[in-house]
Formats: sequence, C-alpha cells, structure tokens
Amino acid sequence: MSEKTYDLIVIGGGPGGYVAAIRAAQLGMSVACVEKEATLGGTCLNVGCIPSKALLRSSELFAEAAHGFADHGIKADVSLDLKTLMGRKDKIVGDLTAGIAYLFKKNKVTHISGAGRITAPGSVVVAGAKSEQTLTAGRILIATGSQVTPLAGVEIDETRIVSSTGALALKKVPKRLVVVGAGFIGLELGSVWRRLGADVTVVEFLDRITPPLDLEIAKTLQRTLKKQGMTFKLGAKVTAAKATKTKVTLDVEPVKGGDVEKLDCDVVLVSVGRGPYTDGLGLDEIGVTRDAHGFITVDSSFATNVDGIYAIGDVIRGPMLAHKAEEDGVACTEIMAGQAGHVDYDLVPGVIYTSPQGAGVGQTEEALKESGVAYNKGKFAFSANGYARCLGETDGFVKILADAKSDRVLGVHILGPDAGTLIHEAVTAMAFGGSAEDIARICHAHPTLAEAVKEAALDVGGRVIHA
Ligand code: NAI
Repeated sequence: MSEKTYDLIVIGGGPGGYVAAIRAAQLGMSVACVEKEATLGGTCLNVGCIPSKALLRSSELFAEAAHGFADHGIKADVSLDLKTLMGRKDKIVGDLTAGIAYLFKKNKVTHISGAGRITAPGSVVVAGAKSEQTLTAGRILIATGSQVTPLAGVEIDETRIVSSTGALALKKVPKRLVVVGAGFIGLELGSVWRRLGADVTVVEFLDRITPPLDLEIAKTLQRTLKKQGMTFKLGAKVTAAKATKTKVTLDVEPVKGGDVEKLDCDVVLVSVGRGPYTDGLGLDEIGVTRDAHGFITVDSSFATNVDGIYAIGDVIRGPMLAHKAEEDGVACTEIMAGQAGHVDYDLVPGVIYTSPQGAGVGQTEEALKESGVAYNKGKFAFSANGYARCLGETDGFVKILADAKSDRVLGVHILGPDAGTLIHEAVTAMAFGGSAEDIARICHAHPTLAEAVKEAALDVGGRVIHA
C-alpha cells in the first residue's frame, strides 16, 4: 500500500470541498481532494443545482412556446423531444464537472478517486476501484455533503418512487406526479414536469409551502403555482406507498388526523429534506462529535473536537446550500493559513427557481414579529414595473423590511422575474450595513426589473413613485 503526504486532505469534491481545495492550494498548501464518485462537483453539479436548472430552463422554454407565444402574435407548432432535452442537461453537467478537473490541474490540486475513511488524525485510507492507498496530512477537511432524507413507508427505487436524482432522469413525462414535500427540490422539479405536461399534486406536512421563505412570498408563490396547474394538499403526510407495474398508490393522511386518502399516480418524488452524509468516514472510531441530527460539531474555525480534523458545508450547521458550503470552504482554509476567514450566516441568500423565482436574504417578517423588532415595510409589485410588463412577467413583488429606528435593512424578499439576480443588490447593501434610504437614493437604470427594488425601498419611507 502506497503512502503520500500532503498539507491538507479534503474529503469530498462538491462545491464545499473543491472550492476549499482550490483556495488552500492558492494559499500555498499541497492539497489532495478525495472523491468517491466518478466526477467532481458533488450533488450540486451532478444531480442537484445544475441539472435541475438546465431542465427548468428547457421546460420554461417549452411552456412558453406552447402557451406564451400566442400573446406575442407568434404561431408555433410545439412538440417535445425529451431525449434531446435530457442530452442537453447531461452535456452541461459533463462540461462543468470536467471544468473542475481542469481547475484542479491549474491549481495543482491532486484528485484522488475513491472513498476516504479517516483512520487516525492526519491519516486517510482511500478505497479506490482496484486498490487502497493511505494518505497522510497535517490537516483533514470533511466536506462530504448531504443525502436524501428517507420517508418511512415509501421506499425509493429511482424509477417509480424517485428522489431528486431519479426525477432528473425520467424516461418519459409522467401523466400524474405526486411530490412529497413542498420544499425547494419538490417545487423546482415539480415545475419541470408540470411544464412538460404532468398533472402534479404536492403533498406537504406543514400548512404552508417552502418553510425558509418569508410567508407572504410563499403564499403568493403557491397561488401562482396553482394558476400554473399544480394541486396542493397542505397539512398532509404520506404514510405508505405501494408500487405495481403500472402505478403507485399512496396513503395520504391529514396531519391533524382523519381519513386516509388513496392517491394514485405514475411517479412519486420524495423531497422531504436532506441530512448530513458521513457514512463510512470512521467518525465514531476516531471520536468526532456530532449533534442530535448527525451534523458534525465545529467551532468558529470549522475545527471539530479532534485535533487537525475540520468540517464544512452540508455536514455542519447552517443552510444546506452550495454557496454557503463554498463560503465555509474559503473561510476555513484562510483561517488554516492564518488569515481572518469569516462567513456572515445572516446574509446567505436563498433562491428558488420556480416561475416566478423566489429569493430572500436576512430576516423574514415572521421572524421580526416573533423577536419583537420594530420595522418598516416597503413593497412594490412587478405589475407596476415597466420592464416586467414588457417581459410579460408581472407576478410577484419586492418587499423590504427596515429597522423602524435606524432604517437599516433587515430583510429583503422578492418573488418575481430573475429574483435570484435582483436579490444581490440587497445582499450587497446589507453587507455594508445599508439603509432603505441608501437603496432608494441609488440611481437605477430604466427600464429594468431592478427599479422594483428601488421603489420598494422608497416605499419604506412612504414615498413610492409608481404605485
Ligand atoms: P426542504 O427541507 O427544503 O423541504 C422539505 C419539505 O418537506 C418541507 O416543507 C417539509 O415540511 C416537508 N416534509 C417533511 N416531511 C414530510 C412528510 N412526511 N410529508 C410531507 N411533507 C414533508 O428539502 P428539499 O426540498 O428536499 O431540499 C433539500 C435541501 O436542498 C434544502 O436545504 C434546500 O434548500 C436545498 N436546495 C436548494 C435549492 C436552491 O438553492 N435553489 C434547490 C434544491 C434544494
């Protein structure tokens, strides 16, 4: 068995791990990144953010061509070639994962293929396809990400009862799709298949959709998705699934109790959340502590309780988002190098790529109410924004919540066209401690969607112009 030594071994080549590996190499460390899958990029690039966004884009164009062109006076005969649509997605994934391999070469990060197991502080055994090797290093960074949370009574087979992975690769458009869990995964992939023609029913445990989003945004999003043909069963849970060759029958129960409803469908998507993935790492043997939910416990330097072992991304606390994992990775390696790495977890934006998109940063209105913080609220609807009208995308609004005394922006929530891009003006303003007045006094180009952000900021001070 060969043995190689590095300054840092990163276990996991997803957005947390690969970014940490590159940053560490930039800081002068010799770095190995161990990845058990065939390609780098983790869940995000291979079976998550990227393929889902590719399918969202294609399905959006399909729906637009089928239903939206007539308004523009464009006549089109539209039909679907699912194989080509899926091929486009696979090519995007292939190109981007190869791009990370290129970045590793450029930054002299050694990519080690295989599953890593920590056998002692500073020592990782990697089981490759053909042989095992031992790597040693001054530090080990765990960035092994997350896995699908299972649902009792519903066994995933990735053909009829699928996780997000299977839902990204269905061979045909299901007639009836049931989505269990109205979170980001369920609503994004539910939107894809709805737009391509499936009847979609979403079953959600809570009495609202998308729990982390501001409630007003979530309610408006639900109304819009309903208009697009999605059916919602809120306050309900799936307790059993029986798959035959031709269909799946689900038992759906009201959370408050009551009669069980039988729901037939062709495909079920289980999207009830994700949990930290630490299987096979040897954490119990070396005594790395985890909390009650399985998240690895770290201090402000991302250090675990075992000397020389660190963790970032979905395996530690905080939102399970690729960009949060990347920030963790950069901060963690900069701290290792003696710099002042830092992540502001209050300013991690969240984006859901439904149509319209939803995005938020900072405090929700519910959180402010609950903590008794006095705030002023400004709102502006996209229906009053000239550019949104030209695009024909007038659903949604911008909402800005600012401290009642200081006017400092505490939270911004957007439902509307390109909300995922628009939110970054708010993130920037908030990162600099900006006020609603600051945003309101910045010149915004006309006609743009960004004017809706300015108008919402003006509305905080009661002087909105176009409403
Ligand atoms: P999630 O935690 O966002 O949503 C799961 C939903 O399932 C919740 O609304 C929950 O109340 C519901 N639920 C739980 N148990 C249930 C049951 N037995 N019956 C019915 N409903 C039930 O999880 P999701 O959507 O699986 O996403 C996993 C992670 O990936 C999240 O952290 C999410 O933010 C992230 N993600 C981010 C995306 C983005 O940034 N655009 C896209 C997709 C995922």
